[in-house]
Amino acid sequence: MGITTTLAGRKEKELSELSRDTTENTRSSSKKNRRRQRKNMLRIHRLFDTCNEVFSHCGPNIIPSPHDVERLRTVLDGIRPEDLELNPDMPYFKKKAERYPAITYLHLFESKKFSMGIFCFPPSGVIPLHNHPGMTVFSKILFGTLHIKSYDWINDVPSTISVAQAEPRSARLAKMKVNSNFTAPCNTSILYPTDGGNMHCFTALTACAVLDVLGPPYSDPDGRHCTYYSDYPISSLSVSEEEREGYAWLEETEKPDEFAVVGALYRGPDPVVVDD
Ligand SMILES: [Fe+2]
Repeated sequence: MGITTTLAGRKEKELSELSRDTTENTRSSSKKNRRRQRKNMLRIHRLFDTCNEVFSHCGPNIIPSPHDVERLRTVLDGIRPEDLELNPDMPYFKKKAERYPAITYLHLFESKKFSMGIFCFPPSGVIPLHNHPGMTVFSKILFGTLHIKSYDWINDVPSTISVAQAEPRSARLAKMKVNSNFTAPCNTSILYPTDGGNMHCFTALTACAVLDVLGPPYSDPDGRHCTYYSDYPISSLSVSEEEREGYAWLEETEKPDEFAVVGALYRGPDPVVVDD
């Protein structure tokens, strides 16, 4: 009985220590979770605060000062997928059988001044060539590899290119700004109303997430519609190879039938909530 009592006593002590350890581990892991959530909240909240400040005096064709552009770029550069509770295993990013898989849009916030949202691309997802009238746009690739092709309108047509040679006839000459692959982590890309590649096309080479900040947002009532384009190469023989590669004819098109963006609920931390 003595031995049994001792063993029973020891067992009880072990169980109570185990229970204390488990409680402490749970406490410490929930503390870690809270600390991690708090860190996420701070980053996303800092992004929201910075957008609020940077875009407060902006509007259509009124771009933030170079100092403000750098401030916002720095905050966006520091945003990671976990800050938004995103990862490539989520269903939006899975490879689809369709030739043109749908893109998912997670809406974060929109005001008259700016909007924030995430585009989720499965591999080979495409957002066709489109414009951003009067806007400044910050795009941060959170993960994956994205091909970006972008153009700006030009007013001074090079003497070697004749507008009369436009093919198709209604097309307008544009200068290519970017035509490259970008793999996260990489710097935030920025476009402006008349520079930086205001018309762009995104093609996901892998599953990709892109956080977009638009100031001001698209607005049909205010005449800021999204217009789509097709690009055509310069075919004239009188043009040098360099010019042929650096320019293209852009013609307005309808939104391509195969292009679909599906809205889904963003389940990450609320950018607007104030951390207490
Ligand atoms: Fe865009």
